[in-house]
This record gives sequence, structure tokens and C-alpha cells, in this order.
Amino acid sequence: MSRKKIALIGGGQIGGVLTQLIAQRELGDVVLFDVVEDMPQGKTLDIAEASRIDSFDINLKGANSYSEIAGADLVIITAGLPRKPGMSRDDLLTTNAEIMKKVAEGVKANAPDAIVIIVSNPLDAMVTLFQKVSGFSAEKVFGQAGVLDSSRFSTFIAWELGVSVKDVNAMVLGGHGDTMVPLVRYANVNGIPVMEMLERKYNDKAKAKEVMSAMVERTKMAGGEVVKLLKTGSAFYSPASASIAMAEAILKDEKRLMPVCAYLNGEFGVDGYYVGVPAVLGEGGVEKVVELTLDEEEQKAMDVSVNAVKGLVADLQRLNYI
Ligand code: APR
Repeated sequence: MSRKKIALIGGGQIGGVLTQLIAQRELGDVVLFDVVEDMPQGKTLDIAEASRIDSFDINLKGANSYSEIAGADLVIITAGLPRKPGMSRDDLLTTNAEIMKKVAEGVKANAPDAIVIIVSNPLDAMVTLFQKVSGFSAEKVFGQAGVLDSSRFSTFIAWELGVSVKDVNAMVLGGHGDTMVPLVRYANVNGIPVMEMLERKYNDKAKAKEVMSAMVERTKMAGGEVVKLLKTGSAFYSPASASIAMAEAILKDEKRLMPVCAYLNGEFGVDGYYVGVPAVLGEGGVEKVVELTLDEEEQKAMDVSVNAVKGLVADLQRLNYI
């Protein structure tokens, strides 16, 4: 098997952790691209100098020129500004749209066969913009949001129930904004519904509902909670881990079912938009979108979330980005 080439566009907080995780797992050779001179070269040098200690042997290169990403198999994009306290992801739209347009042109010209994972916010709009500008086929361009949002939701459930997070399965669908949709009814601990466990814990249905609502709300606002504490940026360790899980699924053709910001062709009643849905990830990118039955309340929440994504895409159109 030939060695994979992974291009990371954006060498900031997430880009740095991505580089380290890829190195430690020897997933492929890395080119870390950023517009800031010398910084990606400094980060890759720093990480490479830990190779003897961590026993990894891959090539790490920092770059300020797109020609360095030539022939990349996989591209992960984190270029763009992060939030400041008090900002929503949507407040980043115009600033990051400018950046994403340039990134899409650079990737299209130099790595036309790559599979592309986008992490920059506002996520659903940035994925849409990249796909439209690059013209890459939709199953090869998708976004990371749901893997992290679901991990946040699972973490809160594990803490509440006092069980290992390894046994919690919970998914968050919809757009990656304040209207995201944590799927309560499907959340389980090794098959046991979380709601049933909460009802037994409190011996009170109303209290169980209240506790779940608080976890759902915390999940929706989890990014903002971290921003508020960090004060100088947004979450970066967990978004990097989430992106690596997706990258691994693709590079190792694992066919993992994950929540992915994927292009919909009528699935979930949505046509022509990127939204977070369960999907199978493998060497072809998004190989299948997996539908599931939503009850009335879940469908309503999904509709609200999809409408929020549509609003952002309409803004991109109004501003002539797409
Ligand atoms: N091309 C490439 N990189 C760029 C460009 C560009 N045109 N413009 C800015 N960058 C780089 C910045 O120089 C910076 O190093 O993008 C990097 C972003 O890094 P951080 O500011 O540290 O942000 P980070 O925490 O990594 O988050 C990146 O992911 O989760 C989202 O909301 C978050 O949009 C943000 C993105």
C-alpha cells in the first residue's frame, strides 16, 4: 500500500493538534499549509523532533505555497477565524467565506483528486461554499461537526449516569449551530435507552425529562461554553480528534457510520443542501447516507435546523460567494 499524503489547510490550534495526532498514528505524510510565514514550518519541525520519543516515522512539512499539497489524497481544512466570547458560529460567515473561497481554489488547482473534510465554521455554509467553488463531487466534500457534537452529548450522558463513556451511543444531527438536533430517543447505553435509565435513576418521569433537556441544551451550547472559558479561541483538541476519526475511516476504508455534514439528494426530505446526517464513511468518502425514522418532534427540530442552514446558504448567494 502506498503512503498517503494528507494536506492540512490552516496551521492554527486545530491544525497543530491534527498534525500531532496524524504523526502519532502514522496515518500518512503531512503537509501543513498556512498563510502565516514560517509558522507551519515551525510547528511541523517541533512535532517531527518528537518522532524518536513517540516512535513515529512519517514526513512532516510546513508550507506557505499551495504547490506543496500537490497530489494529496486527503485534505482537512481548518483555515479561518475561530469565535470570540459572545459570538455565534454564524457571525464568522463573511470573514471565513473569503478565506474558504481562496482555499477551494488552491485545493482545486493542486489536489483535484482529494477527499476533503471541512472543519471551519459556520460549518454547513463553508462546506457548501467549498463544494461549489471547487466543483468536486459532493460525496468527496463533507464536514466535521456531528462526530464532535455527538461526543459532547455522550460525555454529558456518561457523567450523569455514572457509566463509561465507551458504552454510550448518542448522535447529534442537523446543522452545526445552535439549532443542532441531539437525538434523545435513540441515545442508549449498550442498547439500553438513556431515558429509561434516567427514569429509573430519579424514579420520576418529569425529573428525567428535565435532566435530559439540560444535557441537550448543554450539548447545543458546548462550543460556546469552551469559548467562554478559553477567552482567546474556540475548542481545538476535540475538533481535531473528531476529524481524525473521520480521516481514519476514509484512509482505512472502515465503512464507519458517523454523523457527517453530507450533501443530501432528497434524504430526510432535503434536496441540495449539506446537513448533518448519519453516513457511512470509507475510501470513497460519503458512501451512503443512512436514513432513520424521526418522530414529529424530532422532525420539527430537524426542519428548524435545516432552515437555519438554508438561511446561511442564502446569505452566501446574496453576497455572491456561490
Ligand atoms: N489560508 C490558509 N490558512 C488561513 C487562511 C488562508 N487564507 N486565513 C487564515 N488562515 C489560518 C490562520 O493563519 C490560522 O493559523 O487559519 C488558522 C486558524 O487557526 P486558529 O485561529 O487557531 O483557529 P482554530 O482554533 O484552529 O479553528 C479553525 O475551525 O472549529 C473551527 O470555528 C473554528 O473556523 C474556525 C476553524
